[in-house]
Amino acid sequence: MGRPVSPSDGVAMELAIEVRGLRKEYSDIKAVDGIDFEVRPGHIFSLLGPNGAGKTTTVEILEGLRDPTAGSAKVFGVDVTRDYRKIRERVGVLPQDFEPFDRLNPREAVGYWASLFDRRITAAETAATLETVGLTSRAETQAIHLSGGEKRRLGIAMALVGKPDLVFLDEPTTGLDPGARRELWGLIRALQSGGKTILLTTHYLDEAEQLADDVAIMNHGRIVARGSPDQLISQYGAGTTIVLAGAGQAGYDALQARGIVARQENGNVLVHVDDPSQVRWTLAKVASIEMPLKEIYTRRPTLEDVFLRLIGSHMKEGVLAE
Ligand SMILES: Nc1ncnc2c1ncn2[C@@H]1O[C@H](COP(=O)(O)OP(=O)(O)OP(=O)(O)O)[C@@H](O)[C@H]1O
Ligand SMILES: [Mg+2]
Repeated sequence: MGRPVSPSDGVAMELAIEVRGLRKEYSDIKAVDGIDFEVRPGHIFSLLGPNGAGKTTTVEILEGLRDPTAGSAKVFGVDVTRDYRKIRERVGVLPQDFEPFDRLNPREAVGYWASLFDRRITAAETAATLETVGLTSRAETQAIHLSGGEKRRLGIAMALVGKPDLVFLDEPTTGLDPGARRELWGLIRALQSGGKTILLTTHYLDEAEQLADDVAIMNHGRIVARGSPDQLISQYGAGTTIVLAGAGQAGYDALQARGIVARQENGNVLVHVDDPSQVRWTLAKVASIEMPLKEIYTRRPTLEDVFLRLIGSHMKEGVLAE
């Protein structure tokens, strides 16, 4: 089967996903422009990138839905462009923008989905799947009456119907409120604890930082950085971030007027300092500038800081916002 690798514990294992030189072109658009990555079994791997980076195209090739222009894509050692059927049963998919059938309830939807895959599913299995995703109390509620988070969990239940080893989650929390996002994070962690491998695409940096063992940052069809969140932060996130909490637009404008490079995040203004020896000087300077301020503190860089540093200059304003 797949190319064995030797992880740090020395035990050879089959890769869940192996992508080499993958390309996908649509006339003059290079949606995926020569990428390489691998995903180890049991890991959560995140493809992170702004709109149009090529995340969904990559995932759809791995799901056997699109043929690549060039390169290879293997799932559990099987070339997906040739023998996708061999691994179909080991893979579950939550598509981007998933919407369930309005008039089916979760119990019916899971049963219907199983029947499409020629799989008989018992009432007990349906109940267990709905339990896994936390929808037991909503099993008889028509999908049209479910909340956004519940609909997404129903989508994950449908992805789990075939008891897959590998689950693709394409932007599973986009558009959900913070509480529903956190609930889904808990579910995704539980799937990993249950032994599943997960490929998660997201444009939420905190999501990748919280969940992923490994991250590939994509932009314009290419992978611009790869590693664990900690590795990426220590490799590209040198320095310290000074947070001017509550400084808002007025604080941002005041800093800009004095030539201090800053950015805004949730009503706060952030100033990045590369060299720790400059922290004191910069703090004294920004503290002397008149602006609305709740508090000042410093923090180590996050994955978001790394992301903005790597591809920020190529991003359109607001592309990371919903
Ligand atoms: N069927 C298609 N025909 C032509 N262009 C396409 C097609 N599918 C995708 N593209 C283009 O390929 C590029 C990558 O799209 P893709 O959907 O893979 O990005 P993404 O990273 O998933 O973005 P998003 O965060 O918006 O979901 C975009 O420029 C998109 O417009
Ligand atoms: Mg997408």
